[in-house]
Amino acid sequence: MVGRNQQAGMKIDLLSEQQAKVILPQLIVLLQDAVDSGASVGFLPPLAPEVAEDYWAGVLKEMAQGTRILLVASEVDEIVGAVQLELATRQNALHRAEVQKLFVHRRFRNQGIARLLMSAVENAAREAGRTLLALDTQRGSAAEKLYAKYGYTQAGIIPQYARGADGMLHDTVVFYRLL
Ligand SMILES: CC(C)(COP(=O)(O)OP(=O)(O)OC[C@H]1O[C@@H](n2cnc3c(N)ncnc32)[C@H](O)[C@@H]1OP(=O)(O)O)[C@@H](O)C(=O)NCCC(=O)NCCS
Repeated sequence: MVGRNQQAGMKIDLLSEQQAKVILPQLIVLLQDAVDSGASVGFLPPLAPEVAEDYWAGVLKEMAQGTRILLVASEVDEIVGAVQLELATRQNALHRAEVQKLFVHRRFRNQGIARLLMSAVENAAREAGRTLLALDTQRGSAAEKLYAKYGYTQAGIIPQYARGADGMLHDTVVFYRLL
């Protein structure tokens, strides 16, 4: 366990590939909830379970290779949020990582869970020897406000970067943070 909320029972864990495999059905539901909520996380709703399963299979593979870290927030036995860290592997990039797929299940939002996940992922990055974090998120999203609040610097905006659930192309905001 790498963190605990004031709220009884809430904890953050860094999972091994084996542990992630055990909770795969919950990870699928979590991703589907994020996509259904309109989050810009690479997919459009409705997200078929097979597509979500394929996605997580890729994540697990990279975890086994040591190039990806998965942290999950859970309350009792329910997975309520997650965040990932993709560790750069190029020779000249071993000091950096990308924060990806931060999401908290809609039933558990606004309770400080994303804050805990971000703090835990930054600690995991430090432990992995990474000193630069980069990430991007949809302009105008809740996540954009969150990253700006948590010490991430806006590097720029890319227009029309990704299609949203509304069918429109949305801008993305690129952030970085030196640890
Ligand atoms: C963005 C998201 C992860 C926030 O999760 P959360 O657990 O509700 O966030 P927290 O309760 O920890 O809040 C973190 C901070 O962000 C702020 N925040 C959260 N939701 C917000 C919103 N809708 N509007 C403005 N600020 C918001 C909070 O005020 C809080 O600030 P504080 O620490 O100063 O109090 C969640 O809304 C989500 O999963 N969204 C869909 C997925 C997504 O868009 N992920 C980003 C992909 S890059």
